[in-house]
Amino acid sequence: MTKYIGILTSGGDCPGLNAAIRGVGKAALGFYGMQLIGFRDGFRGFMENRTMELDGDMLSGILTQGGTILGTSRDKPHRMPVGGKVIDVTDVIVDNYHTHHLDVLVCLGGGGTQKNAYRLAQRGLNIITLPKTIDNDVILTDVTFGFDTALSVATEAVDRLHSTAHSHHRIIVVEIMGNKVGWLALGAGIAGGADAILIPEIPYDVERVADAIRSRSHKGKRFSLVAVAEGAIAKQDVLALRAAEGKVAKAKTRAAQVSAEAELDQREAQHAGNTMRLAKQLEKLTGLESRVTILGYLQRGGTPSAADRLLATRLGTACTDLISKGRYGVMVAARGDDTKAVPLEDVARKLKFVPPDHSWVATARRVGTCLGD
Ligand code: F6P
Repeated sequence: MTKYIGILTSGGDCPGLNAAIRGVGKAALGFYGMQLIGFRDGFRGFMENRTMELDGDMLSGILTQGGTILGTSRDKPHRMPVGGKVIDVTDVIVDNYHTHHLDVLVCLGGGGTQKNAYRLAQRGLNIITLPKTIDNDVILTDVTFGFDTALSVATEAVDRLHSTAHSHHRIIVVEIMGNKVGWLALGAGIAGGADAILIPEIPYDVERVADAIRSRSHKGKRFSLVAVAEGAIAKQDVLALRAAEGKVAKAKTRAAQVSAEAELDQREAQHAGNTMRLAKQLEKLTGLESRVTILGYLQRGGTPSAADRLLATRLGTACTDLISKGRYGVMVAARGDDTKAVPLEDVARKLKFVPPDHSWVATARRVGTCLGD
């Protein structure tokens, strides 16, 4: 019996999504003789039944393209803004799945998508996910596609900022994506030779960072590069933020949840200008002029690296092998040169943080990089 596959991309985009769509598509159509249909803009497009035909022509020439030909959104089935209200559209999604006679829905996404996909699996849909994100924070996979490309972009930025920081005897604070986790800032900081690297997992003391910069100045190096993850947090702010996050997690009633979320939003809004504040503090403490560069969406756009194309293609084709065996409710994880099907319930609602004893952390310390602690 021919199998019918639906596919969507959800959450923030990243390089390698098209390579993965192509990997799933080419193997499904050409190797296994399955049928494939794309859904636009993540779960919103699925709910609204907006489809895209994915035939050989559509799948051709997309391997090297950044972004996703399907479009994406951060919408969640159980909390979808519709007509000015936020409603649960899971039933509509379940109906659409059956209307299209799907055997499986393949969801390409990061941490949020794994959670949403698992919810749909709990509603009885056959789901397979692939792990994508420049943040590299999906657990139980060696790596996510998108990360390698973003790592190169961020590293090149740190390289380029060195010469201008050196010429002007300045501190340049470069903000690298990573709201909850610091893999990208840590990796690019090490690869680019940043003098300080600040990540969410290691709350920092600004005095420590200033000490490191002053000590460089004393040795005649009157410039410094500080790589800071967007979610890096000062020691004095960490308790309040964690308490607010804890309240949201523990809220039992709707009212408690609304008030806890409002408090958390406020804390996060205060945190939004953190990198600018940090640069000002460092300028004051060291006497060196400071500048900020926020890399932002540059890190998510553009052509995927060879490693990301290879990984996305491997995971995409492995996904069709699982479909051919009827193995559902799993994420296709990268394990060395191989892949592994890991149950969605083991992946959903968890993030892969940088462990304090990780070898990258030790490496940074060994080469004298200040981690702010
Ligand atoms: O893709 C993950 C990520 O890059 C985070 O590092 C960042 O905080 C977030 O996306 C921002 O994306 P958006 O503005 O698209 O929600």
